[in-house]
Amino acid sequence: MPPEIDRERLHDLTARELERFERDHPRSRELFENARDTLLAGVPMPWMSEWAGPYPVFVSEAHGARFTDVDGLEYVDLCLGDTGAMTGHAPKEAVAAIAEQAANGITHMLPTEDAAWVGREMGRRFGLPFWQFCLTATDANRFTIRLARAITGRPKILVYNFCYHGSVDETIITIEGGVSGPRVGNIGPPVDPNQTTRVVEFNDVDALERALAHGDVACVLAEPALTNIGIVPPEPGYHDALRRLTREHGTFLVIDETHTICAGPGGATRAWGLEPDFLTIGKPLASGVPAACYGMSAEVAERAQSYLDSLPTTDVGGIGGTLSGNALSLAAMRATLEHVLTDEAFEHMIALGERWADGVKAAIETHGLPWEVQRVGCRAEYWFTPTPPRNGGEAAAGEDHDLMRFTHLYALNRGVLLTPFHNMALMSPATTEADVDTHTNVFDQMAAELIG
Ligand SMILES: Cc1ncc(COP(=O)(O)O)c(C=O)c1O
Repeated sequence: MPPEIDRERLHDLTARELERFERDHPRSRELFENARDTLLAGVPMPWMSEWAGPYPVFVSEAHGARFTDVDGLEYVDLCLGDTGAMTGHAPKEAVAAIAEQAANGITHMLPTEDAAWVGREMGRRFGLPFWQFCLTATDANRFTIRLARAITGRPKILVYNFCYHGSVDETIITIEGGVSGPRVGNIGPPVDPNQTTRVVEFNDVDALERALAHGDVACVLAEPALTNIGIVPPEPGYHDALRRLTREHGTFLVIDETHTICAGPGGATRAWGLEPDFLTIGKPLASGVPAACYGMSAEVAERAQSYLDSLPTTDVGGIGGTLSGNALSLAAMRATLEHVLTDEAFEHMIALGERWADGVKAAIETHGLPWEVQRVGCRAEYWFTPTPPRNGGEAAAGEDHDLMRFTHLYALNRGVLLTPFHNMALMSPATTEADVDTHTNVFDQMAAELIG
């Protein structure tokens, strides 16, 4: 029998780690207290108050896979801005291109030469010939959904239970006790999401078929593997069924590669041979400068273009933005794709992902913990469940916030930053084997203390 986690012990260890955090971070505390006068909850955006400590660590500088905080402590960064800095911090080729473009004009609502270069490179990587640019993955999903509804004339989309695709109202829906409804915590939904969305469990082909049979779904918006409720991989044959059924029912398949780019240079789409109609991606594409894009097949592009041509104007239509496709983000994207997120970089990153997962698995076994490890390419994660969840509902049921807070805080206090919300580690081109081993040792020590 695996050992039960002693909750009293967990509570005491967490209290000890909180004290240590406060002792080690006086300057971060000071800056946080100061910021409370001007910022909601003392942070510039709400997620920055979700870290394991009582206040966030304030960053002084970040290079490669490491950053230093304002108290002078250095960290191995396995969060990497929740994928925004998967390139490593401040990669030199991208920084040079950013500096050069910034000195020559940042945004003019006119195209620069870089746009077509990036479109062609995205096509080479992901297999879709036509591209448009925007600033965030949320935008890419919003714009794609609008186009899919416009082209098909259908009102609804379909997503998976406990998916996350950014703050797109249509996607923030879950199934609780067999009934679909607004996801707990969604802020100001405009309507009941059942009006806009059908939601099914990942890996459930029958549920997908039933939902598509209504004939009102413009597109399925899917991560190739769920990554935002922990990693939930597709079961063998699931993607074939998804593609077959979407085609049979005249529904577009949108693959969101924002996180699964970790599977390789062309994301899971290339690594697993997927054939989406649309593809969306953002976050690391421009080494941290806001940039995102969405691609489409030739057939979809033709339908989209003839729809757009039928409109008197597109200036308020909702698939563009003043800063979309700006010169700076395109220059940064070009440099990132050409020099940073290269094929060779992915080989290095994926090997480190394996090393991280093997190290954590070995420690879990040594200490007999009832936990699991999942990995997609250079993104890996541990789970507080004895068997891997098959879908979002099972994954959500396996969450353990107290344990997560403790494991994250323990790592943070010993110089390793994990991604909040789940137990995720991401490898960058700058991450080293020594960085991975630092985490493995800290994890092993933590597990030993937890078991007692
Ligand atoms: C799969 C996926 N799509 C889209 C988004 C939205 O990205 P952003 O917040 O950069 O708009 C996220 C954010 O975590 C994501 O994980």
